[in-house]
Amino acid sequence: MAEQPGKVTLEKLVSLSQRRGFIFQSSDIYGGMGSCWDYGPVGVELKRNVKQAWWRAVVQERDDVVGIDTSILMHPQVWVASGHVKEFADPLVECKSCHQRWRADHLTEPKCPSCGGELTEPRMFNLMFKTFMGPVEDAANIAYLRPETAQGMFVNFANVLNTTRKRLPFGIAQQGKSFRNEITTGNFIFRSREFEQMELEFFVKPGTDVEWFEHWREQRFNWYVRHGIKKENLRLRDHEKKELAHYAICCSDVEYLFPMGWSELEGIADRGSYDLTQHSKASGKSLSYFDDETKEQIVPYVIEPSAGVDRSVLAFMCDAYDEEPDKDEIRVVLHFHPDIAPIKIAVLPLSRKENLVQFARKVHADLRSCWTVQYDDTQSIGRRYRRQDELGTPFCITVDFQSLEDNRVTIRDRDSMNQIRVPVAVLRDTMTKKLGGENILVLPEGGEVWKQG
Ligand code: GAP
Repeated sequence: MAEQPGKVTLEKLVSLSQRRGFIFQSSDIYGGMGSCWDYGPVGVELKRNVKQAWWRAVVQERDDVVGIDTSILMHPQVWVASGHVKEFADPLVECKSCHQRWRADHLTEPKCPSCGGELTEPRMFNLMFKTFMGPVEDAANIAYLRPETAQGMFVNFANVLNTTRKRLPFGIAQQGKSFRNEITTGNFIFRSREFEQMELEFFVKPGTDVEWFEHWREQRFNWYVRHGIKKENLRLRDHEKKELAHYAICCSDVEYLFPMGWSELEGIADRGSYDLTQHSKASGKSLSYFDDETKEQIVPYVIEPSAGVDRSVLAFMCDAYDEEPDKDEIRVVLHFHPDIAPIKIAVLPLSRKENLVQFARKVHADLRSCWTVQYDDTQSIGRRYRRQDELGTPFCITVDFQSLEDNRVTIRDRDSMNQIRVPVAVLRDTMTKKLGGENILVLPEGGEVWKQG
């Protein structure tokens, strides 16, 4: 595909990701494992920041949500009761000529998109990966890799209720891996077979679900904006009846304008009392809640905002990507929000002379106790700035020979490329203001407060 100058494409992101250590194809040296991806040294920081920003907004900043972390392998009856064994399937068609397989509901024409051949009739293909628990491979030992994290929250509803004494409305949140044996994958990390989700099950009194559904639609849309995604690249789209999952009363997607077009980033669903009722019936354990007002046992409804970590990472990368003219060259820069940026600060000594290195190392040691900071003394300063621009590092701190005299360093802003010179003594405070409130009070062991020079 031809490169379009200035515009973000998936090809450019794949190439940048490999070049700079964001994301690699899984099992690369064996020719790659289809639709599985490895996060490199920079990508893992980015992914952790996305997850942390979600956890902060959904759990830490709220009184009415608690987090849990449940196992990937669960009792097989969970998936029977949840409806996944029966319903979690996509229509699969196969080309009679080239034998490639496709998702029938993703095709725009009734012929093979690859060779134009005739297709078989659709048959439903269950997306859950099956395996066996223990050494015996028989039907009694079937286990599934979870296709969503949500069921871990439903089966722990009573545990959480009893141990936290939470009253409705309240939510249980978790982040973790999910697996789906997707018929077709692609668009880089957009659709893969192993991915991570960030899900909240927010339990409410029946009858208040519509208002909470609206609340979470708005909250989740705003979360992306708060972390730097341009509003014009986001939209909310309500599902039509025929699109709804087997458990949903209604659902809205937060969609992002990816290079391949508007696509789902997150789904917010009203699951009613479906899951708690199903698990209660199948397990024989009560999953009801005593309503203090009506003095009745009720089965709560649940509102579920369910986001993909990898899709969010892709959206943050697409949105941050820019190519800007810079003198005779093009500067590739990722304008990440400081909370999302994988590396917050780079410390760059102008030379490898010992006294300069010592000075720069001390600055680095002081800052890294608060933030992810990279130390880089390779290549020319211009090349190092370009490298940090491609990583999306908001600030570079340059240490030069003058620094040894006046105890000052230069801070270069990624977006404006403006530079200011500040005393080392106020560097940590300055960076705290620029990057947002992080822990500035903790000095590393043996650390000392720098005196203004
Ligand atoms: N518990 C509800 C649920 O799982 P979903 O719409 O099937 O709902 C939620 O998935 C989110 O998980 C999606 O919006 C997407 O971000 C992410 N997701 C789903 N399948 C994915 C896949 N194959 N690859 C990457 N992300 C996926």
